[in-house]
Amino acid sequence: MDDKLIEQINEKTPIVDLVSEFVSLSKRGKNYMGLCPFHQEKTPSFSVSPEKNIAKCMSCGEGGTPINFYRKIKNLSFEEAAQELAIRAGIEIKTEKIIKDPNKHFHQLMNEVTSFYQFNLKNSEKGLEAIKYLYGRQMTDELMTHFRIGYAPTHGQTLYNVLKDKGYAVSDMISLGVVKQSDDGDYYDLFSDRIIFPITNPKGDVAGLSGRTMNPKETVKYINSPETVIFKKGQLLYHFYEALPEIRKSKQVVLYEGFFDVISSYAAGIKHGVATMGTALTKEQTKLIKSVTQSMIVAYDGDSAGLKAADHAIPMLEKEGLKVEILMIPEKMDPDDFIKSYGPEQFEMLFGEYTKDAYQFRYDYYKTGLNLANANDMKSFRGKVMDMIRNSDASIKAFYTQKLSLDLGIPLSEFDFRKETTRKEPVIPKIEKPKMLNKYERAERSLIFEMMKSKAVCSKVMKVLKPTDFADHITASIRIDIERYYYDHQVFDMNDFLDGLTAEHRAYVEQILLKDMYWVNQLSIDETDIQDYVEIVKLANVKRRLEEIQSHINQIQVVSQTLIEERDRLQGILKEKH
Ligand code: UTP
Ligand code: MN
Repeated sequence: MDDKLIEQINEKTPIVDLVSEFVSLSKRGKNYMGLCPFHQEKTPSFSVSPEKNIAKCMSCGEGGTPINFYRKIKNLSFEEAAQELAIRAGIEIKTEKIIKDPNKHFHQLMNEVTSFYQFNLKNSEKGLEAIKYLYGRQMTDELMTHFRIGYAPTHGQTLYNVLKDKGYAVSDMISLGVVKQSDDGDYYDLFSDRIIFPITNPKGDVAGLSGRTMNPKETVKYINSPETVIFKKGQLLYHFYEALPEIRKSKQVVLYEGFFDVISSYAAGIKHGVATMGTALTKEQTKLIKSVTQSMIVAYDGDSAGLKAADHAIPMLEKEGLKVEILMIPEKMDPDDFIKSYGPEQFEMLFGEYTKDAYQFRYDYYKTGLNLANANDMKSFRGKVMDMIRNSDASIKAFYTQKLSLDLGIPLSEFDFRKETTRKEPVIPKIEKPKMLNKYERAERSLIFEMMKSKAVCSKVMKVLKPTDFADHITASIRIDIERYYYDHQVFDMNDFLDGLTAEHRAYVEQILLKDMYWVNQLSIDETDIQDYVEIVKLANVKRRLEEIQSHINQIQVVSQTLIEERDRLQGILKEKH
């Protein structure tokens, strides 16, 4: 897609209409304001400018042109978002420009398989038995439809034959793992006599399936689709796509361990639940969650495996900048058991009263089962808690060292982080007097601010300007700090960023950049502004280089003048002697 086309799509998509589909806006002067859909907030800082046709959060910096806003909120690639908006705006895109999902036929096949199993659930004798089992687990027809639950008939080739009749290639059935080939060459269905749970990708296409047995004697509870081109368990979350509207509404995700937890919770009215599929939470899954919300509740099983898994997941979730709470399910139950035993109201009450923040949770978890009078237990407990708070802010450190001191009966003075790490006294640079910046300095600083606000701007600036293109050396090194920060962070967290800086850089950012009233008062700026700043910095470079060259030339001229004079003088001497 070329720039012209992208520009046209943006122009033809009125930003206020587009944003209004996702955020309720109210007019403020020339602009509209609403609660930012990309981070949690109580006062609106999401600003929409019909004039500039952009939308941007003044607080987290997310947003941008219509295409950028749309891709972010719908979890699409840039191309996909542009394409969808083009269709809405009635802009024709030449067919060869339309990107095709290379796995489209795979998804089609999986959707077909899902429909077949769904049909089978309602229209076969054994299917009706499965329904009875599901009713027994308090599932309703409505839930079965929402979760697209199906039934795979007992042994055989039913699915295989259906797919073959519909013209699907056997090789595709095998690639997707729904059909297998036996040693004597026969084809047979992977799932036999199982209740089927389809698992969608974040775009809503079925990627894989999981089949639960109804037979308590059967040793394998769930059989899953194998990992395929379109089914990578570590990159997907069960019910993520289906929960998206509810996640956006509640600005939160609840993370469970099992399918039935998600379903029972949904039935109990907590509809923004997702689940991993029998594996530990991965970084990709964390990023998926982070792409739609900042806040989550981990609702793992209340048994020791569940607690351990939660403890394991917390650092990863926090590293992504998610606000994490842990739901404590009593009596070692899983959420599904709890809802069955105590009912939906009690379950909802857990969310108010039985959640712990990540510190509380770990503190209590590390403490369970220990004898704190035993020196080994004491040492290990203390070590774990100190590690937990090592990089936290001062109030958390104070609170938990106090708690440790009480629990262990050791004086507070024994818990001192300064004893563990030797910190050099920071060198604080002299504070610059406020001065009027010229337009080149202004452009450099504005770019720095915009880079902080958005990773996309950061990458763009990285592409077009070398670090040495910045004239001010300290601005240039802060710029490198920002680029490094984004190297392993998706979203800019000012405190986190500042923590990683040298004392000199930190003081510069805190005392000079962040006090810059021009920027503080600045409304969100757009792509063209950034373009302009880049141009100005480039022009400043041209100007600097020209000055350099001129000064060289001047020097050379002086030198050559001296040389000419000396030559003339020497030639004069020679002439005299002859
Ligand atoms: P659970 O054993 O907690 O299953 O495993 P569940 O969903 O709560 O099912 P019920 O309530 O016993 O019927 C949690 C998740 O681990 C995966 C599944 O994704 C399951 O939802 N799992 C479990 C498997 O993949 N294979 C298994 O054999 C068991
Ligand atoms: Mn379970």
